[in-house]
Amino acid sequence: MAKTSDSGHEDWIRSAILGGSVFDIALVRLLAKKGVITQEEILAEMRTVQAHHPQEDMALAGYTEDDCRSDTELGWHAGGSRATRLLAELAGISAETSVLDVGSALGGSARQLAEVYGCSVTGLDADFLRVFESVKRTKARRLDNHATFMLGNAFKMPFGDEAFDVVWRQCAPITPFNEERLLAECVRVLKKNGVFVCQQGMRTEALSEEDTRNAPELQRRSLLDEYRFLLEKAGLTIEKVDTEAPTRYDMDFCETRGHAKRLKLYQERKLIAAIFVARK
Ligand SMILES: C[S@@+](CC[C@H](N)C(=O)[O-])C[C@H]1O[C@@H](n2cnc3c(N)ncnc32)[C@H](O)[C@@H]1O
Repeated sequence: MAKTSDSGHEDWIRSAILGGSVFDIALVRLLAKKGVITQEEILAEMRTVQAHHPQEDMALAGYTEDDCRSDTELGWHAGGSRATRLLAELAGISAETSVLDVGSALGGSARQLAEVYGCSVTGLDADFLRVFESVKRTKARRLDNHATFMLGNAFKMPFGDEAFDVVWRQCAPITPFNEERLLAECVRVLKKNGVFVCQQGMRTEALSEEDTRNAPELQRRSLLDEYRFLLEKAGLTIEKVDTEAPTRYDMDFCETRGHAKRLKLYQERKLIAAIFVARK
């Protein structure tokens, strides 16, 4: 079980305390005491905090309006339910599969997997409100027997070694950015012969200052070739790399949202999106 004194947790706790709401702080306190927080504890803590801070309803309502738009029900990623189905098929998910969704956000993909394939999914996210919202939506859809959510840090996951058949990462930039450390942790919790599957926006080359003006996060994207190398270094064997479908999803997303400059970077192939399927 993760200890709060481990460095991965410290980074996360610091950012929650600096930027977090009263919920985050209450949860951080609980985490500091216990090292890990379950879905039941999140709900219990939520009730206690709401009783003492009724004004915090506002924060939750604001978040819901802004971030929990209806399209996020299908996942907070380019390609919506099509992308999730493609990843699931590539990963060979069936009713017997146990899946860990790293950076599960609002739990859209986890619910889709639970509903369509009947598999068991654990969503892990470091944002309390997102985890809370996931739990609420999943209970409302009566999928909570199959999909459960935990608040935790992807760099120090609260799971034992070799716990999951599939580790799933879909359009989830995990902070603080350290792909090598993140992959090592994903591989640790993956069973032998298990599958790591991810859909990520990437770069194919260094971007200029002009390319990343107003979008500095693009510079933090992994380079496609470097990511291949990191997967192999983490002990995974790459079985498939698809850059066609996910790049199309990202470009459609840019078009719909009117992100002309980013779309141009995709047209120039400076940006690309990839699905990697790799086996331990
Ligand atoms: C863009 S969202 C992921 C979208 C989601 N996979 C989906 O398809 O709907 C990225 C998520 O990663 C989470 N995240 C970032 N850093 C994290 C960390 N260190 N540990 C756990 N979750 C993290 C964020 O809180 C956020 O909810």
